[in-house]
Amino acid sequence: MDAGGFLVLLLGLSTPVASKEAWSYVEVRDGAHMFWWLYYADSASAQYENLPLVMWLQGGPGGSGTGFGNFEEIGPLNRDLEPRKTSWVQAASVLFVDNPVGTGFSYTDRPDAYATNVATVASDMLVLLKNFFTEKPEFQSIPFYIFSESYGGKMAAAISLELTKAITKGTVKCNFSGVALGDSWISPVDSVMTWGPYLYTTSLLDDYGLAEVNKAAEAVKQAVEQQEFLKATEMWSVAENVVEQNTNGVNFYNILTQDSDENHKLTHLALQILRHIRPLQRQSLSDLMNGPIRKKLGIIPQNVTWGGQADEVFTNMAGDFMKPVVDIVDQLLTAGVNVTVYNGQLDLIVDTLGQELWVKQLKWEGIPSFNKLRWTPLDDPASPHITGAFYKTYKNFAFYWILKAGHMIPSDQGPMALQMLKMITQQA
Ligand SMILES: *[C@@H]1O[C@H](CO)[C@@H](O)[C@H](O)[C@H]1NC(C)=O
Ligand SMILES: *[C@@H]1O[C@H](CO)[C@@H](O)[C@H](O)[C@H]1NC(C)=O
Ligand SMILES: *[C@@H]1O[C@H](CO)[C@@H](O)[C@H](O)[C@H]1NC(C)=O
Repeated sequence: MDAGGFLVLLLGLSTPVASKEAWSYVEVRDGAHMFWWLYYADSASAQYENLPLVMWLQGGPGGSGTGFGNFEEIGPLNRDLEPRKTSWVQAASVLFVDNPVGTGFSYTDRPDAYATNVATVASDMLVLLKNFFTEKPEFQSIPFYIFSESYGGKMAAAISLELTKAITKGTVKCNFSGVALGDSWISPVDSVMTWGPYLYTTSLLDDYGLAEVNKAAEAVKQAVEQQEFLKATEMWSVAENVVEQNTNGVNFYNILTQDSDENHKLTHLALQILRHIRPLQRQSLSDLMNGPIRKKLGIIPQNVTWGGQADEVFTNMAGDFMKPVVDIVDQLLTAGVNVTVYNGQLDLIVDTLGQELWVKQLKWEGIPSFNKLRWTPLDDPASPHITGAFYKTYKNFAFYWILKAGHMIPSDQGPMALQMLKMITQQA
């Protein structure tokens, strides 16, 4: 900030007041402490009471929403603590939760307190949400949406189903209005099986490479079919190596970029952690979170490091990682929950081809009608007359195809992502 900017801030002139925030820990199980951070909506045209509440769930498992989602994707400030033009806080109150336990500033006291399956992830989150809506009753009637990315989508689906049941039972008071699954790990096998065709079509595999990638993907599929899920996770890791070798290191999060070669020559889970958790906590972000942010928050226990248990989170979930949750999405749709799937055109790890496959397998009665509809183009708000996305919606289901975006859609196409947020939350 220059001296003039500082003066304006000091005098409280023209610069908007920093948005109201709150944060806290909830002990969701004995020895399992979950951290959340809330930004109240900060809009020139509406009070937060008249804007939705959005919970953001990061992937991994082990990626931190309060860190990566907040400072690299949708929060009011970017990693250099400068205002983000496409912050979601201008259209919604945003709640970041570091889950599963051990992620970000969340932590466990004991090695046996990590979650090992998505059912525990969901029941932990229900404890947190019950606590949150009790502590913040002003949010009980505000439309509440869950948005997610990657593995966060698998968790979001499971959490949404449990939340729907809890609201019916009256154990959680909130106005749950929908779930949005971004580049989500809903059907891992459909993702892996389409890597070959997708990379071949985009000039990233030759015929030899295509055959090798398909063979490696087939091994993943077999392990899943035999319900050997830990083995499937290992085979998935092998398949990623095969992709990497044949593409000269394509970036799994955006096919137009390349991985640095630090990832090569490692095997299995150690490699997966390096490949999928570390990019979510680069040194610069880690320095920010463990430096000024931790100081600002003031409640982080001395021996807890942001990201310090992330590897453990992933390792503990490895046996659950490759299990699909397509049936959970079906149950949500049948229960009348608004479900949106959105996917980045340039994402490899969760490519759009794979998403199309599991969506077509849904048993929900609206699917045949959804399939018969044509999509509608959407202009990119940042470039008038240039298509930024296509979308299609039928009853309580919607699909957004986001162009020129990889796995992290709000980082790659901020204005388009913000526009989509407004459409999904009935503001546009
Ligand atoms: C932090 O220290 C407390 C007290 O010694 C201990 O019970 C707890 O397990 C530690 N937590 C972590 C994450 O190391
Ligand atoms: C949920 O939000 C909608 C939209 O603001 C509102 O019409 C409805 O009354 C709310 N429902 C509850 C139970 O608060
Ligand atoms: C759910 O989706 C339907 C169909 O698009 C829409 O009419 C309705 O307003 C949505 N409900 C909420 C709470 O967003």
